[in-house]
Amino acid sequence: MINTRIKIENLYKHFGEGDNRSDIIKGANFSVDQGELVALVAPSGAGKSTLLMMIGCVLEPSSGQIWLGEEKVFDNRWLTRNTRAIRREKIGFIFQAHYLIPFLNVLDNVRLLPLNNHEDEAIVTQRSIDLLNYLGLGDKLHAQSSDLSGGQNQRVAIARALANQPQIILADEPTAALDFERALSVVQLLKQLAKEQAVAIIMVTHDDRLLPYCDRVLKIVDGLVESHANLSLA
Ligand SMILES: Nc1ncnc2c1ncn2[C@@H]1O[C@H](COP(=O)(O)OP(=O)(O)OP(=O)(O)O)[C@@H](O)[C@H]1O
Ligand SMILES: [Mg+2]
Repeated sequence: MINTRIKIENLYKHFGEGDNRSDIIKGANFSVDQGELVALVAPSGAGKSTLLMMIGCVLEPSSGQIWLGEEKVFDNRWLTRNTRAIRREKIGFIFQAHYLIPFLNVLDNVRLLPLNNHEDEAIVTQRSIDLLNYLGLGDKLHAQSSDLSGGQNQRVAIARALANQPQIILADEPTAALDFERALSVVQLLKQLAKEQAVAIIMVTHDDRLLPYCDRVLKIVDGLVESHANLSLA
């Protein structure tokens, strides 16, 4: 269990009640270990974002169990009143749109959350600069987001997700707005991060060409989550 960063047991989610009820996740079981980059695939509306939001403690499951690292965070109810704190401590989110703040420069976008969490400014600044260097953006620290390309902005968004040093990264179609070459470089970067920083990463994607670059593929089928070796789907 030491190396398991996400563990899901018997997870259910439905929206609505009675005639309006739709069952989306119907007893999912899976886990993701540190160092793994796992793709999450399924047709539109199958529940990929729903699943990520539950793992990210943003959306309450109907029932089931969720562990994040050693900590059991959900057992038919949240086991803490402060899901926001769990999110802040353990999880980095990356979305299809980068949601950078346009009037802040690159460095300030990356530093914003940890500074908001009252971490030491000098330490946060150094860590943010290191991350941006690592992501090939060392010469863009003081550029505005609006002056960067889509791929560059997505790398800033990755740096921002990493700035809190999360154990888990949840990425919802992070490459959807990029051409294939840039999408591939983002995926390779995520894979490198998973290995080097021992993070567990779940990445939703609709692009089958990216699957061979992931360690494993989770597929939502009829509300259940299947795990496949990456190439078996190709
Ligand atoms: N708050 C909500 N209330 C009611 N139904 C919802 C809600 N959120 C999601 N759904 C429904 O749950 C289903 C799964 O939605 P979800 O966004 O998880 O799909 P997805 O797999 O991420 O799709 P996409 O590939 O289009 O992003 C959809 O049918 C959606 O309409
Ligand atoms: Mg979605």
